[in-house]
Amino acid sequence: MTETDAGFRRHLRRSLAELSIYDAPPADASWVRLHANECPEPWPTEVLADLAEVVRGIELSRYPDTSGRALRAILADRLGVRPCEVVLGNGSDEIIGLLVTALSGRADATVVVPRPTFVMYAHTARVLGLRVVEVDLREGFALDEPALRAALADEAVCLCFLARPNNPTGTLWPRATIEALVRDHPHVVFVVDEAYAAYAPEPSMFRPDRPENFVLMGTLSKVGLAALRVGYCVAHEDLARALDTVRHPYNVSQTSLALAARVLERHAHVLDAMVARTKVQRDRLARIVARLPNAVVYPSAGNMVLCRLPAPAASALSAHLRRHRILVKTFLDAPGFPGAGAYGYLRASAGTAADLDRLEAALDRWRPPSTGPAGPGR
Ligand SMILES: Cc1ncc(COP(=O)(O)O)c(C=O)c1O
Repeated sequence: MTETDAGFRRHLRRSLAELSIYDAPPADASWVRLHANECPEPWPTEVLADLAEVVRGIELSRYPDTSGRALRAILADRLGVRPCEVVLGNGSDEIIGLLVTALSGRADATVVVPRPTFVMYAHTARVLGLRVVEVDLREGFALDEPALRAALADEAVCLCFLARPNNPTGTLWPRATIEALVRDHPHVVFVVDEAYAAYAPEPSMFRPDRPENFVLMGTLSKVGLAALRVGYCVAHEDLARALDTVRHPYNVSQTSLALAARVLERHAHVLDAMVARTKVQRDRLARIVARLPNAVVYPSAGNMVLCRLPAPAASALSAHLRRHRILVKTFLDAPGFPGAGAYGYLRASAGTAADLDRLEAALDRWRPPSTGPAGPGR
């Protein structure tokens, strides 16, 4: 695109040309969908019947509450904060956009993220024209604290996103390291993204008396409610007000607000049981994947398992699984993954027990490319 382009193209943000669309293949229930880190445990029929009643009661002709006050109050109560500190988003993806928009006051505003991590942090910042500094993780996907500190020292850094547990690696970075980073860089807003915290072996690192540059981000997407698109953050009251200024009114639909509130108020124990089953499935998934020849499986505190394979095996296995109508996320030559070229990485989410039965059956028929069709199984 050049300055002389006619029509709308001359107005497009330059950053968009280098960015790709976040997209996932359409897949119905005939697929085993292990590519999006959902919690696909089925909701019990009696819960679905109760939720159907909630939907029936929705006044379709009316707007929802502008900021989802009732749901914010429920979340605030659970977290021990005031509702004015809670902001709802249409998924936490929207919260990322609100934070980047609100905090990009400086022309050289910079966002620091580890790599690899959830792609939408850097993507959103780049869309809005911010500088992004990506700090590669160390061996075993550990945080590189000295490199992070070097990046965070820059006065232009407004935000640092840390997913705990991290996606796609499943790593649970030490809370003491994060607390020290937050304490030592008061000019940076640290967003601790606990999208997968329900699956972690230790409790949330959120405390109501947190420092004012600490933001907790969460979502209902990873605990069985991805269809609703309900995400949230807890931020200092002044920052929450700034986010609300950016946020469009009515950003979360009445259906989503009402269903989320009902689940949290009446069916939280069911949700907890679904998460507990998913943790069991995640551990089974790790055992299944570990049997693949030459696989390195990384310990996961999330609902997904990441594994490293020789590059040809990674792409062939991904195609093999697709032929068996199983979707996983494949990283080939992706920046931040060690051994680019030599290794590829596959990330699969835990799935249901039936999903894992199908995965096991497909892997039983898998022969790595180097050994050919007559080679040993997994
Ligand atoms: C770490 C992390 N944070 C946030 C999100 C976004 O979740 P949602 O927009 O569905 O709330 C994801 C989605 O995969 C994620 O992996």
